Amino acid sequence: MTPTLPTQYDTFRVKPLSPTIGAEVQGFRMHGEHPDSVIKEIRQALLDWKVIFFREQDVPTEDHIAFGRRFGELEIHPFATNHPDHPEIVVIHHSETSKYGQNNWHSDVTWRLEPSLGSILRGIVIPPVGGDTLFADMYAAFDGLSDEVKEKLDGAVAEHNFLGPFGYRMDEEEKRAQLEKYPPAQHPVIRTHPETGRKGIYVNSAFTIEILEMEKTESDALLKKLYRQAAIPEYQCRFRWEENSVAFWDNRAVQHYAAFDYPGHARRVERVTIVGDKPF
Ligand SMILES: [Fe+2]
Repeated sequence: MTPTLPTQYDTFRVKPLSPTIGAEVQGFRMHGEHPDSVIKEIRQALLDWKVIFFREQDVPTEDHIAFGRRFGELEIHPFATNHPDHPEIVVIHHSETSKYGQNNWHSDVTWRLEPSLGSILRGIVIPPVGGDTLFADMYAAFDGLSDEVKEKLDGAVAEHNFLGPFGYRMDEEEKRAQLEKYPPAQHPVIRTHPETGRKGIYVNSAFTIEILEMEKTESDALLKKLYRQAAIPEYQCRFRWEENSVAFWDNRAVQHYAAFDYPGHARRVERVTIVGDKPF
């Protein structure tokens, strides 16, 4: 049975987008100083709902960064476009003439040895319609697997690297150099969330290469099956952006997908990414 998640917290209310994933936080502004008690509750809401949203956050970029820092150290992405004045901010921009978008299911930076805890993304330029982000609950996706598959994946480890989304712009020499700096990472296929203790699928179609110590055909078939879990609507919520909307997701518990359905329009969003720990 679907557990009933809390909607009433001491310092704000939340409005769920689905029974188990995604809730809009009402009555919080990402501006200025926040007492530890509020940050603690935001963190709890994130753990409960896996992705939380805030509207009307027309705050300076410095506030976005400062809010992110309340949850941990911020990473600087080596391959993305970073904000010229604030390297902690990744700028994801599609112009009116862009031909493709980052539309695949993934969790951020799983190619790192210690991948991200969470990402906080703010909408800056949003198309009149389209450009939604979809989120999928990896706990539910795991729970939905058969016992046979769960057993097969018990203790399995997969390798991840950055080459899929970022390698195409590098020549062979640069690829080699970057792989030395950012070597392939090995993570459990099913990770245990370090704060909730729940198990979730931790392979994704953007960065996972193979399941180790397994025939390639079997690894490919299992990965395909696991990737398909993210695409099941019952495990998802979908967020409709407005300018200055903010989405804060837990990369340890969800995957996301940025729908690229707005050709002819611009979309610009800015992200800070909180450093996480080694998955187990
Ligand atoms: Fe992403």
